[in-house]
Amino acid sequence: MTETSPSFPKDLIDLDDLTPGQITCVLDAAENFKEVSEREIKKVPTLRGKLVVIFFHENSTRTRLSFEVAAKRLSADTVALSASGSSLAKGESLLDTARNIEAMRPDALVIRHGASGVPGFLARRLKFPVLNAGDGAHAHPTQALLDMLTLREVKGRLEGLKVAIIGDIAHSRVARSNMIGLVKMGGRVAVAGPPSMLAPELAEIYGVEVYARPEPALEGADAVMMLRIQLERQSGALFPGAREYARVYGLNRERMKLAKDDAIILHPGPVNQGVELTPDLYDDERSVILPQVTNGVAVRMALLCLLIDNPDKE
Ligand code: CP
Repeated sequence: MTETSPSFPKDLIDLDDLTPGQITCVLDAAENFKEVSEREIKKVPTLRGKLVVIFFHENSTRTRLSFEVAAKRLSADTVALSASGSSLAKGESLLDTARNIEAMRPDALVIRHGASGVPGFLARRLKFPVLNAGDGAHAHPTQALLDMLTLREVKGRLEGLKVAIIGDIAHSRVARSNMIGLVKMGGRVAVAGPPSMLAPELAEIYGVEVYARPEPALEGADAVMMLRIQLERQSGALFPGAREYARVYGLNRERMKLAKDDAIILHPGPVNQGVELTPDLYDDERSVILPQVTNGVAVRMALLCLLIDNPDKE
């Protein structure tokens, strides 16, 4: 961190925790770290001798791998723990597990959990930084930061951008963290989804526009973020079926014409091909779905550095 960088909190639980200045600092640091992944030797010594524990209590490909890649590119040691291979399966409580991890003197804990609030609960009880890698339907702050990095990279700014977020808003931690982050950075957010996947109070709580159909959200958008239908987090049948969902809410070439000509397409993954968007749009030149994954490594490198090497925690 430079002398002019803002101080950072001990943990990253959601983007509520960061000011616009701190978000800009993360994005600037991530932009600088991108170059490391293009080198022949993809490693810098920044976190040599530090230990990052990566604890995923729920499935993941992108977040888990990119945290591990990020830590390794910074020369940190990593150890991975999952629920099935740990003593949690023998009945040990999550807090006891975390205290035992703490006894091994790690420098950070990256945690994903299916229950909302678990990373925050542990962060309040542990002395070292806790980074939320996604908790229930609550928050996915590192995803929102990599989305913002991708948007800023392509559009040159976040302020004033109209971002349409379409899909299962009520069950999406990605939508929630993006609403907080984008509005905080001066963006205009329009969310749309089936009424069963929306909450009427979203407009008031997050300062976003809320629509039951995708068309008004897409109108004049600079970017379109399609969300995965989260079957595992739905308690009942919230839509008639994948085909019907794709017909009414899915992104296709015709609907994309409502957005600006230079609008980009984002998706946090994993994609239900042919449901949230047509396969041709996944591979379209406007799609930044794979660049989002590349940016995920850089954002997580930045966050590990800023939180582990953080002399003046707030
Ligand atoms: N975007 C995201 O969180 O993907 P994973 O579930 O694969 O980590």
